Amino acid sequence: MSELDPLRFTEHKDELPELNRTADTGGLERLAHRLLGRIPEAVTDRAAASASLRDLGFVLASLERHGTDHRTVPGAEEALLKLGALADEVPRDSVYTYSLRNPEDRLRTFTGIAEEVLFIAEVRRAGTALRPAVDHLMAALPLPVRDPLLVEHLTAATEAFKVFAHALLTVKRNITPEVFSTGMRPYFPPMTVGGTVLYAPGGAQMTPLLVDMAVLRPEPDDPRHAWYEQYLDENLLYLPAAYRAAGDTIMASRPLLPRLLDETPDGTTVAVWDRLRLLMREILHFRLPHLQLARANMRIRPDGSLGSGGYTTDSLDHLVELTTERHQRLADAFAAAPPLDHATAPRR
Ligand code: HEM
Repeated sequence: MSELDPLRFTEHKDELPELNRTADTGGLERLAHRLLGRIPEAVTDRAAASASLRDLGFVLASLERHGTDHRTVPGAEEALLKLGALADEVPRDSVYTYSLRNPEDRLRTFTGIAEEVLFIAEVRRAGTALRPAVDHLMAALPLPVRDPLLVEHLTAATEAFKVFAHALLTVKRNITPEVFSTGMRPYFPPMTVGGTVLYAPGGAQMTPLLVDMAVLRPEPDDPRHAWYEQYLDENLLYLPAAYRAAGDTIMASRPLLPRLLDETPDGTTVAVWDRLRLLMREILHFRLPHLQLARANMRIRPDGSLGSGGYTTDSLDHLVELTTERHQRLADAFAAAPPLDHATAPRR
């Protein structure tokens, strides 16, 4: 889908960073007009609509960043609503249009700076790696604890999360808070489309959401349940249709971690717990440095600033706390369990 270019935006992709550098809102408006004029003929199916959301999204978010409400551009809001309906996605850009469906060889950026190019590549790497992890976790959900496939699925999900955590570290090492918060973050403004405030591309729209739901989400008797349900309500709508459907399937089963902990331990159970513990460790390898990175960025922003998903770092604190607590529960269960017998112990 990334290679589609129904609005012929590739021919303008290098103009956009220049218009943004000079805050040329007149030029941006003219570019928006040209793209809007191409929609009726060029966009008739879902794939073309999704590619158009990406390219129109780049131009309209740029206008918003420079203080022009996209609704003042004739036809822009109607076009977003039409494209969103056709694509069956939120009617604006998302982390999927910005990164995962942004063609590597004809990359679209807001700024053209090396840091943004790296950011898009790493978010793409992270998001792509987690696709199979979601499939593996969904396959694991219905399996009884003694099914040998469980260990295989958990191992595959752990390997994928390693790539995710690594991508975050690459961003952390290469993009300073100053460059991200002053040079890039302004291009991720909220936009009101069809009377609804929609947040910009951001991490909360990424697949760790589905991983959490499958593995560690709070169950109804947990005091964090209400908070988590609201977090899901606010973020699931930004996922592509196939992932939203996966979310529905996941919610029909109990999350893996508490379910597997409820089993009376024997060698097989403990081997599965061990695998789960390695997965939790990788999730923390992402979440802890990510929290540091988000805090370092917030420190240099005005008080009360929000991430592109509309949150303070409180939501990240809650997720770190939830993940740490789950990791600890596993460690405690592990410590209390009979010794892992060698026939069932997974190799590290
Ligand atoms: C300078 C870079 C970054 C900053 C300042 C940052 C900041 C934030 C903030 C403030 C949130 C809370 C939700 C929101 O309001 O958007 C968030 C969520 C999230 N971000 Fe980032 N982020 C950065 C880079 C990344 C990268 C490179 C990835 C992926 C490799 C990532 C993945 C996530 C995920 C998955 C969430 C949802 C919460 C979670 O699952 O823990 N972020 N980020």
